[in-house]
Amino acid sequence: MLNFEFYNPTRIAFGKGKVAEIDKLIPIKARVLILYGGTSAKTNGTLDEVKAALSERHVEEFSGIEPNPTYETLIKAVAQIKANNLDYLLAVGGGSVIDGTKFVAASVYAEGDPWEILLQHGTNVKKAMPFGTVLTLPATGSEMNDGSVISRTETASGLHDKLYFTSEHVFPQFSVLDPSKSYSLPPRQLANGLVDAYTHIMEQYLTYPVEARVQDRFAEGLLQTLIEVGPKVLQNPEDYELQANFMWVATLALNGLIGSGVPSDWATHMIGHEITALHGLDHAQTLAIILPSMLSLRRDAKRAKLLQYAERVWHISEGTEDARIEAAIQNTRSFFESLNVPTRLSAYGISADAIPAILSQLESHGMVELGEHKDVTLDKSREVLEASI
Ligand code: NZQ
Ligand code: ZN
Repeated sequence: MLNFEFYNPTRIAFGKGKVAEIDKLIPIKARVLILYGGTSAKTNGTLDEVKAALSERHVEEFSGIEPNPTYETLIKAVAQIKANNLDYLLAVGGGSVIDGTKFVAASVYAEGDPWEILLQHGTNVKKAMPFGTVLTLPATGSEMNDGSVISRTETASGLHDKLYFTSEHVFPQFSVLDPSKSYSLPPRQLANGLVDAYTHIMEQYLTYPVEARVQDRFAEGLLQTLIEVGPKVLQNPEDYELQANFMWVATLALNGLIGSGVPSDWATHMIGHEITALHGLDHAQTLAIILPSMLSLRRDAKRAKLLQYAERVWHISEGTEDARIEAAIQNTRSFFESLNVPTRLSAYGISADAIPAILSQLESHGMVELGEHKDVTLDKSREVLEASI
């Protein structure tokens, strides 16, 4: 096992009815800004519930945080906070609203242009405004981690940027996880969440063995739970126990636990972010496209873990090693397809002509040595993209 430090200060309030607890979790004198997305928090009643719980405080709202949240939108929330002396943030939504709130929390105290936070991947964040979250979409793990992904449409190059930052100052103080809040999710967002959580686990599990038995078995258990509940939750989105298991898996998939003491990959995510930036695909759609070909093309370096994955997650123990690996990768692709998330660029109308621009984005963002062995060069990324058409 590799050396590690595990730190996670986020309190989780899990279960039906837990939204009311924010009254205890947010200081009574706080001047609160509630941040949310488009319409879902209003139409499914979560916003009203939140406002009722905070009725004794000064509360303002900031709406319109879009999927793949943008700098241009979020910077307006920073202005509102400064103008009205607000001092506590509450994100109500999915990964985009939570990520956006993290960026706002850090930007309030930024010296100079807040976009520098993304350019420096958070190393320059010294302080952030305290915030909590009410999660409505299991997927990203943002509710219990220190990461955030922000897009910018008006960059100097004229291209769209989608960059990440991490900082221990942007862990949420608390997150309310009420599985009934995701009953209203449409099938596309449910499927996206399943694919995103699955890929988070794979990015931390499917590298090379380091004798991290606990982390491996946690990861395998989480993957198996997604395989088990995924198709069922799509059929029965109002089944509390299915949503509860899905929500907790998605949080555990990226809260630092299974990634402690093991190598991690993240090449699929980095290529995926560029596809979203240039073509607007949902985050999870990009992962469903890239992960199977990434595993396939790097099967030699990942051989031992692919065999372990085949046997322990998919129960494939017959046939040659190569046949078992092939079957496990095919099962991964079929699982995503069974959730109605297509796994080919062409299914989204993207052809080979698009590859050079994706590669030049990767290059301009310094994404030229990706993966657990830093051997995913631009050439390797090109091969992966070509195999994903
Ligand atoms: O805007 P509203 O109307 O709220 O609708 C949203 C949005 O259109 C809707 N939605 C959310 N909760 C709902 C609901 N609709 C009905 N009922 C509900 N209960 O879902 C749509 C998508 O929401 P979004 O927040 O964009 O989805 P997700 O949670 O998948 O977040 C994706 C973003 O997170 C980033 C991605 O790159 C992307 O920008 N990621 C963040 C990570 C992190 N912080 O650790 C890691 C991930 O790998 C990922 O990169
Ligand atoms: Zn992701």
